[in-house]
Amino acid sequence: MADTHSFEEMIDDHRIAQTLMVMNQRAGAFVDLGVIDQLGNHLAYIGPYDLKGKNYYGQAWFVEVMSKGVYISDVYMGFRQLPHFIIAVSRQENQRRWILRATIDPDIFAGIVQAAQIGRTGDSFIINESGILQTRSRFTGDILSNSNIKVSSFGKGTSITEEGNGQHRQILYAGCWLKNKNWLLVISRDVRQEMRSLFATRNVEVGIILAGILAIVLTVLFTTRLTVRQLMENDRKMDELNAQLVQSDKLAALGKMAAGVAHEINNPLAVIIQKTGWMEDLLAEEEFKNSPNYEEFKTSIKKIEDHVERARKVVHNMLGYARRMEPRLEDVDINQTINQTIDILENYARINNIDIQADLAENLPVIAADQAQLQQVFLNLISNAIDAIGKEGIIEVKSRRIDTRIWITVKDDGPGISDDQQKMVFDPFFTTKGSGKGTGLGLWISYNIIEKMGGTMTCKSQQGKGSMFTIVIPIVTPDKK
Ligand SMILES: Nc1ncnc2c1ncn2[C@@H]1O[C@H](COP(=O)(O)OP(=O)(O)OP(=O)(O)O)[C@@H](O)[C@H]1O
Ligand SMILES: [Mg+2]
Repeated sequence: MADTHSFEEMIDDHRIAQTLMVMNQRAGAFVDLGVIDQLGNHLAYIGPYDLKGKNYYGQAWFVEVMSKGVYISDVYMGFRQLPHFIIAVSRQENQRRWILRATIDPDIFAGIVQAAQIGRTGDSFIINESGILQTRSRFTGDILSNSNIKVSSFGKGTSITEEGNGQHRQILYAGCWLKNKNWLLVISRDVRQEMRSLFATRNVEVGIILAGILAIVLTVLFTTRLTVRQLMENDRKMDELNAQLVQSDKLAALGKMAAGVAHEINNPLAVIIQKTGWMEDLLAEEEFKNSPNYEEFKTSIKKIEDHVERARKVVHNMLGYARRMEPRLEDVDINQTINQTIDILENYARINNIDIQADLAENLPVIAADQAQLQQVFLNLISNAIDAIGKEGIIEVKSRRIDTRIWITVKDDGPGISDDQQKMVFDPFFTTKGSGKGTGLGLWISYNIIEKMGGTMTCKSQQGKGSMFTIVIPIVTPDKK
């Protein structure tokens, strides 16, 4: 306006009013317009206040606009006691220098700025270089009050700083210096409000990651434990099988050797018994009867005969076993065989206060087996139990069918067998019974009989608690004979 109008035109009241109207058609923010001459005299004025005739000579803004050509003030109260700011431009026209000065209503200005207030905690305002508010702000303070914002922390362009406002709230400030004036446009928000959805997303993410890690750890733990348990179980089964294999190998070798030895001993025994008979016959003659050593000879010969008899019994057992290696197959009712065996031993047990209890399964099928051999096994096991208990106790004989097998257990509450001895109970000639009482062949023969049937025989025992012998035999139906 200053450039397109001359001084003469502008000091005309009518023209200046018209100019203000034109200006407000564009912006609507101009409160008044005035013309001031180079001596500071307000010559023309259109606006709500009575400023005509006032003199500004010597005032800072007047000096600045005269020297620099343009002046934009900060918001101030001035003569009219209302916040406003002015824009003044000076123009050189021939020998005269004059000033066109307009007042701007900061409220209109603030309206534009406040449009940038977002959300419940958002604020936007303008401050000058000293941090004084140039527009009203929502939370920071009223116009012309101090915003307490460190202006120095805002650099060129748009910069962002974060500050606590003393109420444990973090505020995020974005500031940008305006182009033609050292005013800072500030937009602020509460960090938590601003970041709320971000935090929520982050929390969900952290939750998902933690849950994922937990799931992975649990799965790994679970599968490892399962695998380890399976491996241990497999190991155990393998060890058991190995032990069984070693046992049966050992017993087979021992068996062969024992049978051979038995054979070799049989002949010398026959000669010895024949010769002792001959010696007895000779002793009956008169000349020996009168000998002072007659009785000594007689008891010695008797002792020889007793011991030979014992040796023959052992040999007989072993050879009998060897001869009966091939079993005769017939229809066998296992429960009936067990009952018969108990009948045989019951009297002997009762004398010693031993109770033999039978717990027999009803669903056992008739199988193809050698009844005499099976009875020999049961006899061995039950009489071993009676011997072990000695006096007073319980023997439990159980039979069960599990899938394609029959399980028979003989359990006693005798003294049990030590771990070391458990390894040897099936060995031939292993006995703890006094000389002349046991041959140590009972379990060995029994073991071999069951093994020939395709079954297994095992011993479990705990010293002081009792022993349990378990026989597992496959069900061979008589049709398959
Ligand atoms: N139920 C049991 N309780 C404790 N020890 C046992 C039991 N059964 C067997 N034994 C031990 O195993 C050893 C071997 O038994 P096995 O039947 O082979 O021979 P034996 O009974 O000693 O002699 P035999 O059977 O010729 O009379 C026994 O001497 C005994 O020490
Ligand atoms: Mg025995």
